[in-house]
Amino acid sequence: LGPAVIDVRGLPGKLGYFSYDPGFVSTASCRSAITYIDGDEGTLLYRGYPIEQLARHSSFLEVAYLLMFGELPKHEELQSFAADIRQEAMIHETLRKFFEGFHYDAHPMAMMVGVVGSLSAFYHSELDMGDPHQRRVSAIRMLAKMPTIAAACYRHSVGLPFVYPRADLGYCENFLNMMFSVPSLHLGGDEAWYLDPVAVDTLDLLFILHADHEQNASTSTVRLASSTGANPYACIAAGIAALWGPAHGGANEAVLGMLEEIGTPERIPEYIARAKDRNDPFRLMGFGHRVYKNYDPRAQIIRKACHDVLARFSPNEPLFELAMRLEEIALHDEYFIERRLYPNVDFYSGIIYKALNIPVNMFTVMFAIARTAGWVAHWLELKADPEQRIGRPRQLYVGAPRRDYRPIEQR
Ligand code: ACO
Repeated sequence: LGPAVIDVRGLPGKLGYFSYDPGFVSTASCRSAITYIDGDEGTLLYRGYPIEQLARHSSFLEVAYLLMFGELPKHEELQSFAADIRQEAMIHETLRKFFEGFHYDAHPMAMMVGVVGSLSAFYHSELDMGDPHQRRVSAIRMLAKMPTIAAACYRHSVGLPFVYPRADLGYCENFLNMMFSVPSLHLGGDEAWYLDPVAVDTLDLLFILHADHEQNASTSTVRLASSTGANPYACIAAGIAALWGPAHGGANEAVLGMLEEIGTPERIPEYIARAKDRNDPFRLMGFGHRVYKNYDPRAQIIRKACHDVLARFSPNEPLFELAMRLEEIALHDEYFIERRLYPNVDFYSGIIYKALNIPVNMFTVMFAIARTAGWVAHWLELKADPEQRIGRPRQLYVGAPRRDYRPIEQR
């Protein structure tokens, strides 16, 4: 069944009419001034600015400021925002102990859900969110701590000591340094490859492209949880959980697994045939989108960026050639043409992350760091909205009619 308006007069509760819209295909859950998507045209605007312009001229912190506060920052505003982020980047020392409870091979997204959620125990007084200044502090704190927590998840999984954030490094530099620096080992002249401007700028670009995407599943989850007045860090943890699934942010991890499994261009037709087979659950990961029925503009930008980053770090990456060939074949196939299935943001992002030495199980964590900008922007918007009510969808009941309880011996 697709979306429908259902007459429920006469049914228990006498509700009148309501819409049945599984997957919320055509239901707007809120009004928002943050991000605009035209799926037919392949257009994406953050606060009115085209993603292509932001990707070319802006930085992730500037974009985060734009999403959170509505306008591009003036020079002093950006300086002060970046200083606040640096100030809040450290995590409470006790939180380090929290990581010890996780087995070394725990998935980093599982750790992220737990550790970010636990921030609500450190900042529980923030349940009173009536004060706009306090809301701003909470939002900045969340964005600032995310790279530190993410890098700590990785370091825990490989058994390396945690690295503290540094006040002299930018947002992405800091993250890469916390991920990869090994202070006690001298690896030779190449140890700081991760601070190479191509690595830092490419990561910044990916973060811009992933920063917000209106009412996607994880953002809607954050909004729904926030509508109850729950602690903001717990709401972000709920968003991270929703992002993890392979139909959403987990797709970047799944794409790389799929490309590695395909292995060679000769095997592409076999996987295209599987994707088209209704009896096979396999889908072409990184393809298709609920809103875009045209090329995802973010995928266009990432595809171009692949050329630069691979030339610098991994010139002979066979997976990029394979991905481009797969795209070409799919885009000429009737099945994909009819359903308007194009590469989405995650089709090429994993190839870049791989070139930057980010482990595959950290790909969705990377997405979570970037999407935190959008999550907190939506949280700020919701909290400032005088019309905000608790989110409470209805359902179409399809269970048993009223019946009487029977004792166990009579069943
Ligand atoms: N491979 C093969 N067929 C597909 C694919 C795909 N990747 N995506 C959709 N289809 C087909 C469906 O089987 C369906 O065919 P039918 O009409 O014959 O039944 C039709 O296209 C419509 O698909 P739906 O599942 O109804 O589309 P929906 O909007 O619900 O799902 C989604 C969108 C989840 C993104 C889907 O395209 C998908 O699973 N893609 C692969 C996973 C992925 O890349 N996710 C990342 C999304 S972007 C993001 O979250 C950052």
